[in-house]
Amino acid sequence: MNDVWLSYLDFRDLESYKKDVFMFKPDFLFHIGAYTSLEYCEENEKEAYRTNTMAVENAVYIANELDIPILYISTAGIFDGKQDTYDDWDMPNPLGVYARSKYMGELFVTRHCRRHLVCRAGWMMGSGPKKDKKFIQK
Ligand SMILES: NC(=O)c1ccc[n+]([C@@H]2O[C@H](COP(=O)([O-])OP(=O)(O)OC[C@H]3O[C@@H](n4cnc5c(N)ncnc54)[C@H](OP(=O)(O)O)[C@@H]3O)[C@@H](O)[C@H]2O)c1
Repeated sequence: MNDVWLSYLDFRDLESYKKDVFMFKPDFLFHIGAYTSLEYCEENEKEAYRTNTMAVENAVYIANELDIPILYISTAGIFDGKQDTYDDWDMPNPLGVYARSKYMGELFVTRHCRRHLVCRAGWMMGSGPKKDKKFIQK
């Protein structure tokens, strides 16, 4: 359930995404939404890539059109977990559909967006009791 001040947008639809962002005229585009359930992504591969990878192309197109930077939240899950720690220079080796879909989004951002920042997050927390899908609530 969303707060009342939020409007609905399916960012997989380029025209709707463009309309909302162009109207708002932001200084930055934070592309944060994704299908985050590993299980769902494994079972719904096409939807996972459509949402987590292909929709990122929409975000990149919009950011380039407006000449604003994009913030793309990737995941530490792009690494295979064989090492204790990783740094920016380690080669990703995403193992599942979710991780691959996020890594492909990352590649699209870094290759095609003129101004970008990619953050590879570990665990998130928060969202409030009504819609928290993160590890503390789970
Ligand atoms: N959770 C973690 O520990 C973690 C770790 C590393 C990276 N990340 C990354 O951090 C970002 C945020 O994760 P999170 O944990 O906050 O995820 P979350 O709680 O699962 O929220 C994901 C959000 O994406 C929205 N969304 C999904 N498909 C959409 C679409 N087609 N159009 C518009 N919005 C859509 C969802 O909207 P609805 O609520 O309407 O479904 C939801 O608000 C994601 O990119 C995720 O890959 C998360």
